[in-house]
Amino acid sequence: MKKVFDTEILSNVEVAEKIFRLEVFEPELSVISKPGQFVAVKISDEFTLRRPFGIASAKNGIIKIFYRVIGRGTEVLSKKKVGEKLNVLGALGKGFDTEIYGKILLVGGGMGLAPLLSAAEKIENVDVLIGGKNKSEAIFWYKEFRPAVKNFFVTTDDGSLGRKGFVTDLLPSVLETEDYSAVFTCGPEIMMRQVAFEAMARNLICEVSFERRMACGLGACLSCSIDTSQGRKKVCKDGPVFNASEVFF
Ligand code: FES
Repeated sequence: MKKVFDTEILSNVEVAEKIFRLEVFEPELSVISKPGQFVAVKISDEFTLRRPFGIASAKNGIIKIFYRVIGRGTEVLSKKKVGEKLNVLGALGKGFDTEIYGKILLVGGGMGLAPLLSAAEKIENVDVLIGGKNKSEAIFWYKEFRPAVKNFFVTTDDGSLGRKGFVTDLLPSVLETEDYSAVFTCGPEIMMRQVAFEAMARNLICEVSFERRMACGLGACLSCSIDTSQGRKKVCKDGPVFNASEVFF
């Protein structure tokens, strides 16, 4: 179910370098949103296209998203003030399977951790492998995940916290230490491909969440297509979450 909402901004703060956490109030959207789905935000009349953002949390009437300021649109968004209205279309797409039995490992790199947070909030038995640029980014994600997950594993690009390197360097040893039934991942596609390889080599279910540029967000323009074993699919409508076994990376 999707609708357009005129939400109210509750907070919009920089939580790590150029990374913002935006919270809006919209009870109905909070109820209909599922982990792994996304919203399309109309930033202002200056921009024709809405911008997609993975839902990081949807509870108690509050929708939380994270974004990195990387262009004019996100820069304008970062200047929005508490109490302003924000036009949001959601909830869009197909999310994670939260009914999978057993323990689940979430593996995220950078902003890919945002949609995984919504899965952590709904699934009881879950660990997270966090990949951040540096210590401050990793600690910020650690604080966000702390109330919802059991075990943390951390890598940083510069080695300032956890293991130096990428999540894919640490993943094989993490998969040996616990008895996981599934891996959910989101982040750069080259990272997700390696995560899927490691998970499927151990016969684990693996769900991958794609982040693609989207023009319409509604399945009408084909700008977000990917190749799968069932032909071309649209990330915005058929995903953004897919079973890794059906995707041709
Ligand atoms: Fe238009 Fe997916 S963004 S079809």
